[in-house]
This record gives sequence, structure tokens and C-alpha cells, in this order.
Amino acid sequence: MSVNELSPDNDQAAIPNLKDPSLLKDQCYVDGAWAGTPDLPVTNPATGELIVKVPRFGTAETAQAIDAAHEAFASWSQMLAAERCKLVRRWYELQMEHLDDLALIMTTEQGKPLAEAKGEVAYAAGFTEFYSEEGKRAYGETIPTHRKDARIVVINQPIGVVGAITPWNFPMAMITRKVAPAISVGCTVVSKPASETPLTALALAELAHRAGIPKGVFNVIVGKSSEIGKELTTSNKVRMITFTGSTEVGRLLMEQSASTIKQVGMELGGNAPLIVFDDADLDQAVAGTMASKFRNTGQTCVCANRILVQEGVYDEFAEKLTKAVAAMKVGEGIEEGVAQGPLINQAALEKVEAHVENALKGGAKVLTGGKRHERGGTFYEPTVLTDVTTDMLFNTEETFGPMAPLQRFKTEDEAIAIANDSEYGLSAYFFARDIGRIWRVGEALEAGIIGINEGVISTPIAPFGGMKQSGIGREGSHHGIEEFLEMKYMLMGGL
Ligand code: SIN
Repeated sequence: MSVNELSPDNDQAAIPNLKDPSLLKDQCYVDGAWAGTPDLPVTNPATGELIVKVPRFGTAETAQAIDAAHEAFASWSQMLAAERCKLVRRWYELQMEHLDDLALIMTTEQGKPLAEAKGEVAYAAGFTEFYSEEGKRAYGETIPTHRKDARIVVINQPIGVVGAITPWNFPMAMITRKVAPAISVGCTVVSKPASETPLTALALAELAHRAGIPKGVFNVIVGKSSEIGKELTTSNKVRMITFTGSTEVGRLLMEQSASTIKQVGMELGGNAPLIVFDDADLDQAVAGTMASKFRNTGQTCVCANRILVQEGVYDEFAEKLTKAVAAMKVGEGIEEGVAQGPLINQAALEKVEAHVENALKGGAKVLTGGKRHERGGTFYEPTVLTDVTTDMLFNTEETFGPMAPLQRFKTEDEAIAIANDSEYGLSAYFFARDIGRIWRVGEALEAGIIGINEGVISTPIAPFGGMKQSGIGREGSHHGIEEFLEMKYMLMGGL
């Protein structure tokens, strides 16, 4: 079959209005070719309709993809960095040229509003662009010698084949944030996107193909998560596992990776506190809370999950936030002006519902929302709750949905203690104007990413990653290439 056709199993499938329909793929991409029989349905979460079926790869097919990546590593890692990075740069340009189509595919399979999907494509392409430069700078070092007849140098070499396992909430950015640094420094990758959102990943593979990235360097496989994960983590040919997803799955992948002592990069769950102090600019705090809490319908690892508001501004903040939340338009991501899409699936809907019910049982009150949306399906009303307490479910579990619980506090120390009382430490936000407080709180919060008077702080040029059970390692920025490199010390004696 040619790369531009869907197989007969998918003859009814389509995403209308794609400028380049050949970006819609229904096969996996292994060793530079499209492979597999479509079987696993991918549906639109806004309508429940089937978009397309994709293959259901398992252990054997994963092993083939690993072999392809392993074989490609020999020549890709030997290529001059400048030549490799030129191809990665071309991949970036194609991502930007096809921004509208990539966004439409993403909204159709994931549900996020089209404007947010376009934002994600630009954000994701930003990683590709950044690492097409940074890949040329895997500098080593010389160390002043300890012996007159010897010299010490340290070089950085690509670690080898990388298994990249990514989630459904950011179908493109989580892939480029891992794959772009990996391939830019000379690694090869077997990428396993979430079964809910494989189509953006497969379109990225098509663009990598068109960019001239050689066969075997970037492979995309979809299917049985447990089999693919097991094969990637236990294969001796894979030298690193990079994962974004839940802490529970991350722990399992780390356990499995221990069998072959692999390098791991883990971007795991969070339970972000967002603190509004009495001296905050309240309009800024409301705008930041909206951005942090309701981005991607509350389905990000860095969404504010626990909102703490100091007593002096509590009522005013609650009123302003409620007004902004109640005004949000809920609907299918392709509709004009939609700010909130559906949740990804029924389980996600039930979790939000359970968190709201649990809070209400504990004495919380609804300021707006608080139930399933009248559109049905997996739509839930953007919700603000007041009078919440620290013993409610959302304090220990990420809600991963559009519920903003507002808790009152009195002192700075109390807010910091509540904020840090979590096994997670990915992101935290606070709003304040006093410079002394900004430093004190910024340094005291136990999180890898801190937003001060800002609700969305992700960017390709800054390090993203968590403390405690939120993960290991950092992605993005110049630090983002470190985990894909193996440091080698060489002593030259007998001089
Ligand atoms: C995530 O939710 O895992 C990523 C969010 C981001 O990159 O901002």
C-alpha cells in the first residue's frame, strides 16, 4: 500500500477539511515503512464516532521496531551533528507548514478546542526547532590533569535506542519534547503514543519521512500498552525509557526497566497547589487560575488542583473566578469560541464526578457547574467549589478535569504547609506582589516548576520536570539533552 492511502478497513474514515488528507494514517511506522492491519478503533471524544482504526501491535512487532531502531543507530549516531540537525530542522518546518492539519487531527482525536490544539502544535514544533540547534552542542569537557604524563577528556555520546511512551493529553508536544532531543544527539527512537490519540503521532511520522529522516530512526507503534511497555523496558537493545503519564504506570515501567538497568526519564503525575495571597493582583490571579486550571479541560499534569486563597481576598476572588468560569463556552473543539471540550473518556468523567460528590459530602458548596453538561457524552460543566477542606479526595488524587476547589487560609506558613503536604511535586503557582514573599514562597514550595503571577509557564527553553513522586529528570531547555547522552571519561597516559 502507498503511504498516502488508508487501507480498505478504513474506507469510510475521514477527517473532513484536512488540507493534506494523506496525513491521516491507519498503520504503524516501522523502519521507514507503514505496517500493520487496522483493528484498534480511535474515536472522537466529542461525538463518540469512529475516526479510523489503527493496528494493535504487541510483543513481536515491538521487537521488530526495536531491531530497526538498533540497526539505524549505527549510522545515525555516526553522522555529523550538523547533518542530523539539518534533517530535524526540516521536520520542524514541515510541522509548522502543516500546523492547521495537525491541529485538526489532534482536536478530532483528543477533544481540545482547536485554538488550543494550534497552540500545542506551535509549542511542540518549538521543541523540534530548539533541539535542531541544541543537538549540535553536546559538548564534553577537559579536566586539568592530575598527572604530568596524562590528560583527561570527557565526551558525550548518544545513549542508544530510546523507548518513548507518551500520553493522550498532549498528543504532539509530549512526543517532540522527547524525540527531538533524542534524535538530534544521535539516538534512535521507538515511540508509543497513547491508544486514544495515535493519529497525531502517525502524522508526525509521515512528516519525519518527508523530512528525509532515515528509516529506523523514528518508529511509531500503537497497540497493546502492557505488551509494548514490557518489551521496550526489558529489551537489552533499548538503553533508555522516557515516559510521560501517571505515577502508577511510571513506577511499573521503572520496575521493569530495572531488569536491564536502563536510564529512565519520568514525567509523572502532579497535584499542583495554586495560592492567591492577600497582596495579589486579583485580576491577574483570576486570569492565571483560568489558564492553569482549565487548560485542556483540566487534563494536564500541571493543572492547578488545589486552590488556596487567603482570607482577606477569598470572597472577591471567588466571585471574580466564578463569573469567568460560568462564561466559558463548552462544546466540540472545532466549534467557534469553544473554551472547554469533552473529557477524554467515561472513566475521566466519572473521576471528576466522584471528586465533586466527595467534596459536596464533606461540606463544600457549588458556586458554578457541579454536574454533567447537558450536551451529554463526556462533557462536564466547568465547576467552582467553595468551603473545601484538606481531607477531601482531590488533595491526594489529581482530578484531571474542570473542577476548581477554593480553600481558605490565614497565614503564609499555613499555605506553604498545605501546598507541600503532597507526595507530588511537579508544579505550583502563586500570586503575590510583595518581593520578600515572592522569594520566600518560591524557595519553600516543593515543586520542579513554579509559576509566579502566571498560570501557564511551559516553554521549550525552560526545564520541565518534577520532584518527589512527580518524576525523575528534566525535559526541555539545554538540560533536555542530558538524559539522552552517556558521559564517557577518557584518560590519555604515556604522554
Ligand atoms: C503535561 O501535562 O504532562 C504537560 C503539560 C505541559 O507541557 O505544559
